Amino acid sequence: MWPQPTNDNPPMRPWRRGFALLPVALLIACDGQQSTLNPAGTGAERIAELFWWMCGGGLLIWALVMGIAYYATRAHPEAHGIRSARWLILGGGIVFPVVVLTVLLIYGLMLMQPLRSTADVDLQVDVSGEQWWWRVRYETEAGDKVELANEIRLPVGQRVAFSLTSPDVIHSFWIPSLGGKVDMIPGRTTQLVLEPTRTGTFRGACAEYCGTAHALMNFPVVVMEPAAFDAWLAGQAEPAQAPQTALQRQGQQAFLANGCGACHRVRGTEADGALGPDLTHVGSRLSLGAGILPADVDAFQRWIGHTGEIKPDVRMPAFGMLPQEQLNAMAHYLSGLK
Ligand code: CUA
Repeated sequence: MWPQPTNDNPPMRPWRRGFALLPVALLIACDGQQSTLNPAGTGAERIAELFWWMCGGGLLIWALVMGIAYYATRAHPEAHGIRSARWLILGGGIVFPVVVLTVLLIYGLMLMQPLRSTADVDLQVDVSGEQWWWRVRYETEAGDKVELANEIRLPVGQRVAFSLTSPDVIHSFWIPSLGGKVDMIPGRTTQLVLEPTRTGTFRGACAEYCGTAHALMNFPVVVMEPAAFDAWLAGQAEPAQAPQTALQRQGQQAFLANGCGACHRVRGTEADGALGPDLTHVGSRLSLGAGILPADVDAFQRWIGHTGEIKPDVRMPAFGMLPQEQLNAMAHYLSGLK
């Protein structure tokens, strides 16, 4: 519990409270599903290592500069000879930064090399940054392409090569817990290799301002045991399951009758659009709308009826004009696509 302010201990002024809470905020930011400093992948481990070296080095240099400032202003404030001043400028202003920055550059480049190498990768994943969601394609061992959206699952301990691109605007693909970020550039394919080191659910995000809904394109990343991952991918490669209940059947009819299939694909049905997210197993995903809503019936219904209110400038029109019972049936159909 936080100590309660008492009368003899008046509450801090807001700016002071802000400073007092800064270390707490920094520590909180180091934990959780989206932290480079709590690594769950080899790339993030190297980045955290580099960060701590730079942090420690920065502190040392700061202490050194403060020491010199103290020496020059307090310990020996008298005038110093021109020769020693020249040596200090040459040494501290040119030689020291050149040496430190060269060492840092070489160390940084050495860390990058194994992270960029696409040799010995176990799995290939293609991701395209769309406005404003993620198109994800896996290739099964049999060579079949499986498309899904806004969710990435990875086998622990395996090297995964990501090919990244975008059809229109620049995004940046970033899973802070696993590794560094790489831009997704229209007309080009960039590469990133990640190797998760422990299982868990992490959070990926877009790290480059790409438009109105930039902050609303996230994705859960689930790192699984290899056998569980294989079973999951095999399930994703299957066509959609048929509606199980009367309500779901009614939802499927509404989905097809309202033209949703022009943009969305549900493999195994006549819905074969490629513009929007593939919905074949949308009900099995951890989120809806690219990491912004839970994947439950209520959220599906809200999303279909109010897309533009939930995600400004989203390309999918809102279907709020449909009768409530149709929206409800569609939400049951879609959330049932496990
Ligand atoms: Cu996509 Cu920012």
